[in-house]
Amino acid sequence: MLEVRSIRLYYDLAYLWPIISPPEEYGSEARVFADIVHDELGPGRHRLLELGVGGGHNLFHLTAGFECTAVDLSPDMLALSQGLNPGVEHHVGDMRSIRLDRVFDAVLVHDAASYLLTEQDLQETFATAAAHLLPSGVLMVAPDWVQETFPDGWVYDWDRKQGDIEVNIQEVMVDPDPADTQVESTYTYTIKKEGETTVEVDTHITGLFPLNTWSGLMGQAGFSVEVRPLPPNEGGYGSWLFIGLLRETI
Ligand SMILES: C[S@@+](CC[C@H](N)C(=O)[O-])C[C@H]1O[C@@H](n2cnc3c(N)ncnc32)[C@H](O)[C@@H]1O
Repeated sequence: MLEVRSIRLYYDLAYLWPIISPPEEYGSEARVFADIVHDELGPGRHRLLELGVGGGHNLFHLTAGFECTAVDLSPDMLALSQGLNPGVEHHVGDMRSIRLDRVFDAVLVHDAASYLLTEQDLQETFATAAAHLLPSGVLMVAPDWVQETFPDGWVYDWDRKQGDIEVNIQEVMVDPDPADTQVESTYTYTIKKEGETTVEVDTHITGLFPLNTWSGLMGQAGFSVEVRPLPPNEGGYGSWLFIGLLRETI
């Protein structure tokens, strides 16, 4: 089975991330996350932990209002986030197992939640979130897809340009085995720089679970759960948002 460490976009091709999915595409989603924390916990500069921060594009819109800490498996992606969010404490780690031995008011697992492949991955990540939250703290989880709305056979093609680099991205997403909890996206990046063209191919295996699995396992981890649609961001991606409030006693 392919695992996250083999995903080129987060390692040797990480330099493409700010070009193909730039920070300005994350503002509206970040506002939704900020509003939820303030609605649940009241105004203030709350402590926020983002698990799977990637390039920190989403976090970039939250650092002014929150005391932020960030975790990611990939040192290459963390380096991008560090450059964009210099005041934030960054840690290399796996959201399924990391323990920072301190608590936060809110934990966010944004689109990195898509890389959880099994129910055990979900259980371990929710346990990590619970271990890092104060009682009544807020967990927000936003996987790219859930089983009910997964568009099998989806093809998406888009172009981006930054400085002297032009990239065409084609994504083809399929569910080779509907009986398991995983789907496959093949990305072809056509990169033009200084008159030269290179083509890179990258396969992402991501998890696909029904809404009830997300909310049920979050409930078992000690959260009261609310499920809401997450409106499309400036890049056109919408999804579902699972909001968990950590119960005082399980
Ligand atoms: C789509 S990117 C996140 C982009 C991010 N939302 C942003 O604003 O830039 C997904 C990230 O999840 C990270 N990731 C995947 N599985 C992980 C895990 N188990 N623990 C920590 N990070 C993980 C990857 O390394 C990658 O950086």
